[in-house]
Amino acid sequence: MQNTDREIVLDVQSIQERIGQLGQAISGDYATGNLLVIGVLKGAFIFMADLVRAIDIPLVTDFIQVSSYGTGTSSAGDILLRSPPTIAVQDYDVLVVEDIVDSGLTVQWLVDHFTVQGAASVKICALIDKAERREHPVRIDYCGFAIPKGFLVGYGLDLNEHYRGLPAIYHLKDPV
Ligand code: IMP
Ligand code: MG
Repeated sequence: MQNTDREIVLDVQSIQERIGQLGQAISGDYATGNLLVIGVLKGAFIFMADLVRAIDIPLVTDFIQVSSYGTGTSSAGDILLRSPPTIAVQDYDVLVVEDIVDSGLTVQWLVDHFTVQGAASVKICALIDKAERREHPVRIDYCGFAIPKGFLVGYGLDLNEHYRGLPAIYHLKDPV
């Protein structure tokens, strides 16, 4: 049955091709580094899984869970650290893996957090950049796709925990 509530924005092949390119760039840039890849739960879990398999240098992995959105589609304006990484970031080159950078609030908080914790360096890899909605200026070092607007779901991205398992990324026409 045709689903008219959503429209495909990024198909499986486009996502995988772009991740391959990001993996190559990251592998080159961190060849002499001490790479710790930290995925931001929950939205980045599928992207993280594909990205680390596209990076062909040694790395260690961890996750952090923070929340900026309570429920629904607009930011609450605050960051809550729900679950810290288990690895101490000191002396690691931290690569934060995010699903979407929207207002920039989450990424700015994460960069500050890992810097204060003593990381040797902190960079950001985001699958999707919604730059037009930026409220906090942040530098995205590795960006998958720039998508100006709309609420996106699939490939890890959710609306109230739904749609994460869709293999591609869709624009949700009427998010409630
Ligand atoms: P920011 O702090 O405003 O940049 O929000 C970033 C977080 O909001 C992302 O990690 C996502 O979890 C969530 N988010 C922002 N836009 C979307 C979207 O279009 N779909 C699903 N989640 C989104
Ligand atoms: Mg989310």
